[in-house]
Amino acid sequence: MIVLKSAREIEKMKEAGKLLASVHKKLRTFIKPGVTTWEIDEFVENYLKKHGATPQQKGYRDYKYATCASINDEVCHGFPRKEPLKEGDIVTIDMVVNLNGALSDSAWSYAVGEVSEQAQRLLDVTKEALYRGIAASVPGNRIGDIGHAIQSYVEAEGFSVVREFIGHGIGTVIHEKPDIPHYGLPGRGPRIKEGMVFTIEPMINIGEWKTKMDNNRWTARTIDGKLSAQYEHTIAILKDGPVILTEQED
Ligand code: MF3
Ligand code: CO
Repeated sequence: MIVLKSAREIEKMKEAGKLLASVHKKLRTFIKPGVTTWEIDEFVENYLKKHGATPQQKGYRDYKYATCASINDEVCHGFPRKEPLKEGDIVTIDMVVNLNGALSDSAWSYAVGEVSEQAQRLLDVTKEALYRGIAASVPGNRIGDIGHAIQSYVEAEGFSVVREFIGHGIGTVIHEKPDIPHYGLPGRGPRIKEGMVFTIEPMINIGEWKTKMDNNRWTARTIDGKLSAQYEHTIAILKDGPVILTEQED
């Protein structure tokens, strides 16, 4: 069942989204060579606490951390750890913020110092893919139009779209209907309706789209060891189109 949200519920999720966006804006300068994802995780948890919010991922299915921190070939659900980030790494920080019971979810990939030209192109294409998916999220379109917009763009750029992890409806719990694959066929899937709130969060690989699971049963990484990036926003569908609840104004 797809739960449609009221204007009031969307407003509360937007407040959570604003706070989440402000965390990512802080991370732009916090993340540099020598910093650990452990320190990033502590910083995020303290920042949220200070602003009256909590990290919803902590305790979700026994997940232990405020953030997911996925480095280089890690696709998603990397654990924060005490090993320093190195010049040239890319790292995705993903978090769900709970502010007064309303949730927002946003992941962002960061370059650590100077990265290779190819890594930078992966970051640029992945972010553009997210915004193309958002542009397709208009009432009357179908969910398949979102995936098609993302997949056709990404594959034309020579990269691949992860299939095993997808976007999702979100509200008072992290994962609701509808499912939002980042691949697919135009005109397929449920109709996009006013009041839907969901994430779009393409994970894009330089090499093959397939992933394998680490022994920790959480962390997915590319099967070929090549880089993966991810950008994620939570969006609400209004009458005239999508509104980004986690937008980071510059
Ligand atoms: N933020 C993630 C998403 O985009 C959810 C991660 S679940 C966790 O769907 F437990 F790993 F945190
Ligand atoms: Co997320």
